[in-house]
Amino acid sequence: MKKTLLLACLTLSANFAVAAEPSKDFMWGAASASYQVEGNVNQDNRGKSIWDYYLTDKQLAGLGVTGEVAINFYDRDQYLKDIKLLKSLGINSYRFSIAWPRIIPDGLGPVNMQAVAHYRRFITDLKLAGIKPVVTLYHWDMPLALAQKGGWENRDSIDWFNQYAQVIFENFGDIVQDYVLINEPSVEVAQNIKAKRYLAGDTSDSSLPIIATPATLETSLKSYNHILLAAAKAKESFREGHYKGRLGVALPLSPILTAGDATDQDKADAKIADGVLNRWFLDAIYKGTYPEDVLALAKKMNLKIDVQPTDAKTIHDAGFEFLGINYYAPFYVRHGKGKGYNPETYIPKGQKAAFNGAVRPDQLTALLDRIRTEYGNPTVIITENGAGFPGEDKLVKGMVVDTQRCEYIKDHIKAMNEAMKHGSKVDGYMVWSSHDNLEWLEGYKSRFGMIYVDWNTQKRTPKQSAYVYGHIIKGDKIDTLSCK
Ligand code: FCB
Repeated sequence: MKKTLLLACLTLSANFAVAAEPSKDFMWGAASASYQVEGNVNQDNRGKSIWDYYLTDKQLAGLGVTGEVAINFYDRDQYLKDIKLLKSLGINSYRFSIAWPRIIPDGLGPVNMQAVAHYRRFITDLKLAGIKPVVTLYHWDMPLALAQKGGWENRDSIDWFNQYAQVIFENFGDIVQDYVLINEPSVEVAQNIKAKRYLAGDTSDSSLPIIATPATLETSLKSYNHILLAAAKAKESFREGHYKGRLGVALPLSPILTAGDATDQDKADAKIADGVLNRWFLDAIYKGTYPEDVLALAKKMNLKIDVQPTDAKTIHDAGFEFLGINYYAPFYVRHGKGKGYNPETYIPKGQKAAFNGAVRPDQLTALLDRIRTEYGNPTVIITENGAGFPGEDKLVKGMVVDTQRCEYIKDHIKAMNEAMKHGSKVDGYMVWSSHDNLEWLEGYKSRFGMIYVDWNTQKRTPKQSAYVYGHIIKGDKIDTLSCK
């Protein structure tokens, strides 16, 4: 090849590579969820959610460990300071959730306009600061009244959610563009199963059954189907209402890995685990079918999962505009006890791990590659990615040097960029979380924020990861940024 031609080719391919990386409009953000940050649980006539019941009434996270104060984010004086801080770090979008029991205190019935006014003010304040709101309609705060009617296990939940979603579209449709309809069905269902185990007095097992086991498969598949149908119905209402914007769901997707010396039974369980955790959702949304292997297993086990013949097609036909991916870690799976499907998760010896599992940025690239090649390359927003490490977040002389979280974020952004170079269409990346906050049944022990929060004084201190993230957003070369 002639020298000039070679040069031209090289420049061309270099241009393509650059073009595939985050553009100027890329959403660089952080995420949070209402119950984890808001506090002020009695403000403006908020109704009760299942989490008030778990943590305040039943003290499942420990004595006095509740969301009653959290990080006081419902308070305007407080959140205005936080918005200012986020802006100073360079963040241009913010994912937060609206609490259903604030908007409709009993889950169904009259709309609480005080809460509507609060969130409209908050969204306007974000926008005035140049921060784009990404609004999650449901991040697990099921109104208590509806939880008592069975929550997502009740097929009526499809209509309950749709009615709530319509209220959101009517009241926020003019100021919001990007909506995440529901967050992480499989983790929410797992949290509820774990809470029920605790309520029944069994505290011996603190694991979270995110990959449904035989004991939890019926509740899980039934709830997943209803949640996806609820999102699809809300999407249809949005279309009928002629609102403008983009809608998607946020799924906790995780590659399923097995050991090099895995047995056939390990591999068989891993395949079903992938079916339950990943393909169940992705196949329904992008192919209009539920995975045959999971359906066959449910049939063999005689499970009543309430999947009607047209359900998966209805979910597909909704035509969500983007896929929200919450990625933390892959799962290593092997066969547990007994015959038949019974997966067990583990972390291999020597594998670095965070609170939410193995640290494997390469698996984020693999996941995005899979979404692109197997599911038609939909637009993706990384709606959550982040980490917390035992003992890492120490406030010393007014500083928190969270080297491991900082490296985690750097490595995962590089992994995302890699997939974008392969052709994945990623529109945004949100760190979980902006601030340390209430980690559900784990209480305040597990910090995930880029901003340190002193639980007693509510004082905020940006950590090293926050500064480094700000530099990445500005366009500095990731490898030149130090996490120490
Ligand atoms: C995700 C949840 C989020 C937070 C992070 C650490 O599964 O969506 O609320 O708890 O984990």
